[in-house]
Amino acid sequence: MRISVAIDGPAGAGKSTIAKIIGEKFNLMYINTGSMYRAVTLRSLEKEIEANDVKSVCKLVSTLDMHFKNDRLILNGEDVNDLITTPRISNNVSAYASIKEVRQNLVAVMQKMAKQYDVIMDGRDIGTVVLKDATFKFFLTATPEERADRRYNELKNKGIDVNYEEILNDIIKRDYIDSHREVDPLRKADDAIEINTTGLNINEVVDKIASVMETKLENR
Ligand code: DC
Repeated sequence: MRISVAIDGPAGAGKSTIAKIIGEKFNLMYINTGSMYRAVTLRSLEKEIEANDVKSVCKLVSTLDMHFKNDRLILNGEDVNDLITTPRISNNVSAYASIKEVRQNLVAVMQKMAKQYDVIMDGRDIGTVVLKDATFKFFLTATPEERADRRYNELKNKGIDVNYEEILNDIIKRDYIDSHREVDPLRKADDAIEINTTGLNINEVVDKIASVMETKLENR
């Protein structure tokens, strides 16, 4: 039987770093679903299609082929990872990720991936919508300040010039939009294990998740 791991939580809770490590440890394909919404945002902005022009966004989405290679999103044959992590995309992605038809399309792509491979997926609605029957569900949280700190350091290390206050405000704004939108809002699945990562380092979180998984997999 296929293994699937859902990692949900707000922006900057450490989902992608942790999912990548766990994926490697348990031999799972890592799927960063936020990058798929970011890719839609990237192409929409390039083509100057606004999020309220739902028909044009949907038409665009139907032309996008997405798959993952070595943890990186390949969009119509192009590795777009550096282009989708910029503040411009972060500031606009929530609007495109709120479009019901976009979500339906991408959720179907995600579910197909989970049928083909053992996966670890991170996002906002993986445990509640995409993989309701996931083998494991985790919900990671941390205070907005700690999450802003992490994102600030991540972008700084990539050589991107950033302002801490702007990042904190973006995180607070995105938390609000992600958890209040009408379609598939950010929410902990009833059967997900919640881990508050404030004050924990990456290894400590990885160890917690790995020990839950090891115990259950050994007993399968
Ligand atoms: O994880 P991230 O910051 O790269 O996600 C980018 C945006 O995409 C975020 O504002 C919420 C949205 N998203 C979503 O709605 N559902 C997902 N499964 C993943 C991301």
